[in-house]
Amino acid sequence: MRSVIDILDLSVEEIEALIACAQDIIERPVAYADACRGRKLATLFFEPSTRTRLSFEAAMYELGGNVLSVAGAGTSSAAKGESVADTAKVISCYADIIAMRHPKEGAAMVAAMNSSIPVINAGDGGHCHPTQTMADLLTIYREKGGFDNLTVGFCGDLKFGRTVHSLINALSRYTGINLVLISPEELKLPSYIKRDVIKKKNIPYRQTTDLQEVMPELDILYMTRVQRERFFNEEDYLRLKDSYVLTPEKLRTAKPDLAVMHPLPRVNEISVAVDKDPRACYFKQVLNGKYMRMALILMLLKEAGRL
Ligand code: NCD
Repeated sequence: MRSVIDILDLSVEEIEALIACAQDIIERPVAYADACRGRKLATLFFEPSTRTRLSFEAAMYELGGNVLSVAGAGTSSAAKGESVADTAKVISCYADIIAMRHPKEGAAMVAAMNSSIPVINAGDGGHCHPTQTMADLLTIYREKGGFDNLTVGFCGDLKFGRTVHSLINALSRYTGINLVLISPEELKLPSYIKRDVIKKKNIPYRQTTDLQEVMPELDILYMTRVQRERFFNEEDYLRLKDSYVLTPEKLRTAKPDLAVMHPLPRVNEISVAVDKDPRACYFKQVLNGKYMRMALILMLLKEAGRL
C-alpha cells in the first residue's frame, strides 16, 4: 500500500504531476467537487494543529468526500494505551485514507506498516512534514516559476523544524540550489541532514548566525518558529525564541522579488508589519497547501483502487 511518509517518497515527476493537478483544481474546482464522493479521510492528530488538520479536512470536503476526525491524544484510545500500530489497523476498517500527526519521529511509518489504506504523514515529531513541503513547493513554483537556480535561506530553528528538513530534502533534487542556513549555534541543522543530503549531493551551503549579512543574496527566505514543544528546558527556549524577528526595515536590503515564506504558526519571528509587503508569501502557502493535499488525496486513492 502506497503511503507518503517522507517527501522523497514522491519522485520529482510525481511532484510535477501533483503541482499540475493542484493548478488544475485551482482553475476548475467544480470539475473536482465530486471526485471523492463516498470516500472517507480519517485525520488522526496527536499533536496540536490548526492549519494542517483543517487543510486536510477542507481538501477532502472540496473533493466531495467525508471526514472522520480524532483531534488530540487525550480524546482517543491512545489515552488508554493503544499502540499506533493497532490504531492504524482499526482506522483501516472505517476509512479510505489516513492523515496522521504524532509527536514521535517514525510514528507515521509505523502506522503505514500496519494499515491497509494509504497513510499521509502530517508531521512526525522533529522529523519531517511532507505535505507542508508540498505547499511550499507549489508556492515556490507559483512565485518563481520553477525550482532551479535559487538561493534559499532557512532561518530560525533548523534543528527541530521538521518543515525545514523536508523542504531541504525536496530542493536537493533540483539543480543550482544554494542553501544559506541561518540559526543560533544551538539550533543548527542536524548533522545527519548535512551529511546525508547536503554534502552527499554537493549542494553549496553556508551556515551563519547573521540574517542581515546574507539578506541581499536570497531569492527565498524561509522563516521558522522556535519549536518550544521540543525543548527540554524552558529557559533555553526563552533565551532563543526571539533570535530573529523579521521587520520591514530588515527587508530593505533584500531583493525586490524575494519570497518570504513561513509554514506558520508565527509567534514573533515575522512582525505583522511585513504582511503588507508584496514579498510576504506565508498566507499564500496556506491556500496552496489545501490544493496540494487535494491532489495528493486523489493520487493515493486512485493508486489504492479506491476511486
Ligand atoms: C509546522 C509544523 O507543524 O511543523 N506547522 C504547520 O504544519 N504548518 C510548523 C510549526 O509548527 O512551527
